[in-house]
Amino acid sequence: MQTVVDHIHANRDRYVSELKELLAIPSISALPAHQPDVRRCAEWIADEMRRIGLENVRLVETAGNPVVYGDWLHAAGAPTVLFYGHYDVQPVDPVELWESPPFEGTVRDGEIYARGAADDKGQVFMHFKAIEAHLKKAGSLPVNMRLIIEGEEEVGSAHLDEFIRANKPLLAADVAVISDSAMFDRDVPSICYALRGLAYFQIDLRGTSSDLHSGVFGGAVANPAMVLAQILAQMKDKSGRVKIPGFYDAVRPLSPEERAEWQKLPFVEKRYRQELGAPKLAGETGYSVLERVWARPTFEVNGLLGGFTGEGSKTVIPAVAMAKVSMRLVPDQEPDTIAGLFESYLSKVAPKTVKLTLTRMHGGRPWITDYQNPFVRAAARAIEQGFGKTPVFCREGGSIPVVSTFQTELGLPAVLFGVGLPDENAHAPNERLDLANFHNGIVSSAILYDELRRAY
Ligand code: BES
Ligand code: MN
Ligand code: MN
Repeated sequence: MQTVVDHIHANRDRYVSELKELLAIPSISALPAHQPDVRRCAEWIADEMRRIGLENVRLVETAGNPVVYGDWLHAAGAPTVLFYGHYDVQPVDPVELWESPPFEGTVRDGEIYARGAADDKGQVFMHFKAIEAHLKKAGSLPVNMRLIIEGEEEVGSAHLDEFIRANKPLLAADVAVISDSAMFDRDVPSICYALRGLAYFQIDLRGTSSDLHSGVFGGAVANPAMVLAQILAQMKDKSGRVKIPGFYDAVRPLSPEERAEWQKLPFVEKRYRQELGAPKLAGETGYSVLERVWARPTFEVNGLLGGFTGEGSKTVIPAVAMAKVSMRLVPDQEPDTIAGLFESYLSKVAPKTVKLTLTRMHGGRPWITDYQNPFVRAAARAIEQGFGKTPVFCREGGSIPVVSTFQTELGLPAVLFGVGLPDENAHAPNERLDLANFHNGIVSSAILYDELRRAY
């Protein structure tokens, strides 16, 4: 193991310059104009996987973007790890707020800035380098590995479940490993044992066939922008609880033990508020900030559109109004059930004065695991060696829908070991990755495979 780790230390700078190549490809899955870049990125990933010594590397076509597959299966008697990551990234808007071009990896103050630096190219690359180091210095890996890197995570992984169901033998493994989340805080490495799920919708309201003069017609017809505001105002009560009937029925209550554990985490509410620039925090009464984002479901408006929003004023009653809304779900809420409850509640609260169209967009199940499981314990030992600190165990508010699919379709437990930081601007301008965490992450990943073998 020591020669592998020494090799990683000696190649620190090379890793950064190689990562820049990957970050230069604008693989934005949400924008059709970037389709060729998405494919070019998949090919780059495949080439890199071949370069580091993985076998059977190929692009597996789906109805959407290709999944890149590769494996190394020569560790007789050792467990098989299914590594998952994504090569697609979020759009870069508003691009004028970036301090350096989003697709030019730029190092400033020990962090590399670029779209995808933390989410998820940098973290996927960290495992590539750990694999490379093992194969180069030891000639073998401590475990068998299968890797799937997908290109549609940021748009809801629409075709991934189908890919998994159709390729079960190809994905046979003992444990899934994913690095696509953040550490609890700088210098507080962590292991994530739960993720929230998601149910996403678009609401369209139409009042009349055309925009109207608000003086001539105002008072005689419903204003869809106003109706939309009234509808949305009925989604939560004053105490921050979602009002959809049945919404909380399947929510697993937080145990007193878990709440007590979270009380011990180094969380400073004032610093959190100040870093967010919020005048005051808000949320469900009776729960702490961490409980609200980790263990409670929520309803959010993601976007709102209606009427005249240009400069100056225009006296108009808009014909249409639109909102994008989503609910973050926690164990054991089912996205389909929640979607049904939301649909019936919405049709109840929407007045007859507007035509309502509700479109179900993507969804994903929440996920939780027992962090006493031996693979998670192995990961904790690896992080301790790579970062020089014992990791804390935390949940995350974000979603990675495939983690639950790994559990239900393949029966796999998962180890979520992320090295991003909560303030690294994932999905926002100036996304970045701390290079010390990237480096320690490579060391920890290399050790992780070794520890997973022992945990078997
Ligand atoms: N890597 C994130 C999810 C994440 C972020 C997990 C922080 C844990 C901590 C992932 O790329 C992501 O953005 N997921 C989307 C899922 C959606 C598009 C289905 C999300 O959470 O909004
Ligand atoms: Mn991600
Ligand atoms: Mn993301």
